Amino acid sequence: MRDPDFDEIRTERLSVRRFHVGDRIAFHELRNIDSVARYQSWPFPYTESETKQFVRDMMKSHPGTIGEWFQFVVSLKENGRFIGDVGLKPLKVPTGQFMLGYSLFPEHQGQGYMTEALTYIIQYAFQTLKLDKALAYVDLRNDRSIRLLEGLNFRELKRWENFGVADADETLLFMIEKKRWRPIANNS
Ligand SMILES: CC(C)(COP(=O)(O)OP(=O)(O)OC[C@H]1O[C@@H](n2cnc3c(N)ncnc32)[C@H](O)[C@@H]1OP(=O)(O)O)[C@@H](O)C(=O)NCCC(=O)NCCS
Repeated sequence: MRDPDFDEIRTERLSVRRFHVGDRIAFHELRNIDSVARYQSWPFPYTESETKQFVRDMMKSHPGTIGEWFQFVVSLKENGRFIGDVGLKPLKVPTGQFMLGYSLFPEHQGQGYMTEALTYIIQYAFQTLKLDKALAYVDLRNDRSIRLLEGLNFRELKRWENFGVADADETLLFMIEKKRWRPIANNS
């Protein structure tokens, strides 16, 4: 289900929200960090015009639109700082399934922020968008991402060798179904 009214999800420490024009500089910086881009599929270096177009598109998009990525900004509640982002795309087929992609600035890794953001976004996808299976592709060498997904109770569904990603060893597909999801007790 498309959600044109979406504005923000507030978690314990985070505001997970729509993109604003003011996010351009931080987003551009994030996309151009070598360690962040290493296992991702966007062009690197990521140009100013790609950033402008991306943020413009995101400001007009709505989460839950079938076949389209919606990118959430992950920011700190205490000071509004942009610390990363999460993309969500509901697949055309099979219906009900959605892809996830996510990144954090290196200085904000190792503090549980992405686990917190994804916990709420997946819950939102299951409850509000009425989707029922979350999927994520991960390069086998991306230990942090694999730990993150396993911590959220995802399990490996499939693996490929040299899956169209330059220099990729092996790509894993992780997934979790709504029926295996442990819902959050309280939204803050
Ligand atoms: C993938 C990525 C988002 C994971 O970031 P992360 O910081 O490891 O994930 P979290 O924010 O959930 O933090 C979890 C870590 O914080 C620790 N932590 C500290 N305080 C915590 C808290 N309050 N709650 C939970 N975990 C906490 C955990 O122990 C864990 O550390 P560990 O992995 O060393 O055991 C990050 O590595 C990244 O942006 N990578 C580059 C982009 C990328 O590759 N994206 C994925 C493509 S598939």
